[in-house]
Amino acid sequence: MPSDSKTVRVNIPGHDYHITVLPGLLSDAGPHLRALTKSQKAAIVTDSHVAPLYAATLAASLESAGFQTITATIPAGEQHKNLKTLSTIYDQIIPFGLDRSTPLLALGGGVVGDMTGFAAATILRGIPFIQIPTTLLAMVDASVGGKTGIDHALGKNLIGAFHQPLAVLIDPDTLKTLPPRELRSGLAECIKHHIIRDAPGFAELERNIFRAIAIDVDYLADLVAHNVAIKARVVENDPLENSDRAHLNFGHTFGHAIETVSNYTYSHGESVALGIIAASRMAAMLAMIDPPAVDRIVNVIAAAGLPTRGLTLPVDNLLACMSFDKKARSGRIRFVLPTAIGSVTIRDDIAPDLVRAAVESLR
Ligand SMILES: NC(=O)c1ccc[n+]([C@@H]2O[C@H](COP(=O)([O-])OP(=O)(O)OC[C@H]3O[C@@H](n4cnc5c(N)ncnc54)[C@H](O)[C@@H]3O)[C@@H](O)[C@H]2O)c1
Ligand SMILES: [Zn+2]
Repeated sequence: MPSDSKTVRVNIPGHDYHITVLPGLLSDAGPHLRALTKSQKAAIVTDSHVAPLYAATLAASLESAGFQTITATIPAGEQHKNLKTLSTIYDQIIPFGLDRSTPLLALGGGVVGDMTGFAAATILRGIPFIQIPTTLLAMVDASVGGKTGIDHALGKNLIGAFHQPLAVLIDPDTLKTLPPRELRSGLAECIKHHIIRDAPGFAELERNIFRAIAIDVDYLADLVAHNVAIKARVVENDPLENSDRAHLNFGHTFGHAIETVSNYTYSHGESVALGIIAASRMAAMLAMIDPPAVDRIVNVIAAAGLPTRGLTLPVDNLLACMSFDKKARSGRIRFVLPTAIGSVTIRDDIAPDLVRAAVESLR
């Protein structure tokens, strides 16, 4: 393997796998997959944006390694992450003649990853799947941890399963075609990871975030490898989200409310960025974190090109939405709050006035 390849092992009992990060990996996916399976076939699932960019390169590499391939394409976008589209994946893939060893390859962002993972969890009661994420968000977040699923009219990700991938292959070169707003969305999750677990990494991110914005692939490869390692360590300690895995929801209690009330005008990453700021300010109001640390958080979010203020959504609607958040347990809203850069704690005893003040600080 070339020396600039970075590998992160995810050690989940019974489901050990490797995440490989290497520029150019897409055109070398065939030999990687060959080392993982004896299957003669491989089915690629991708979306209508990614298919014309990368599906032929992936298929050619797989075929040169002896795989017979089929590519199923679904329409791009979260609005298609539903039962109807899932059904079209089954319809396209099942006639290809699958057996229990045939791998499904998810080539695309988090929508393709979640849907392909769920298809793989359910076809023949579970076949292997490989994540080949092509958005920064899918690389650093959605492809790690085994959560798969689809949305329902009543809410996001309501139908799904835990199904760990056989491997994750990440080619950071694919980020060169990613729309800038999607790149920034992924940066919000990177910022989140560093605040919850990694103070030295946060300082490095402060110094280098301009390189991420400029699509410096060498830097992005480091950033992705570092972030998948952070998420992998969190998930390994709590694969089914019974305790500390909830730290990954930092910024998301406020964030989901902003996303929903804005009717998705704010992207997920933009919402999470504002949510991180609200949660950090709330922690400062509770004297849990020093105000200069909060300033650093706001500054790095601004440097990533993400919003830090200007929220005009009705505060009452945001507060009402938060109370309905699925992470609310026994009637109390749970907040992940930073105690310093690099560590967080969970609180479910926050006074409503403080929640309101935190939201109002985003105006
Ligand atoms: N399973 C998990 O643990 C987990 C974690 C976080 C998010 N998610 C899910 O991930 C989804 C969001 O993922 P996303 O942000 O990747 O969205 P996405 O999959 O919709 O991708 C965003 C857009 O970028 C396009 N695209 C993808 N790669 C590209 C490339 N290299 N060049 C050009 N365009 C490209 C896609 O076609 C799409 O239009 C949500 O459904 C969310 O629920 C899952
Ligand atoms: Zn998120």
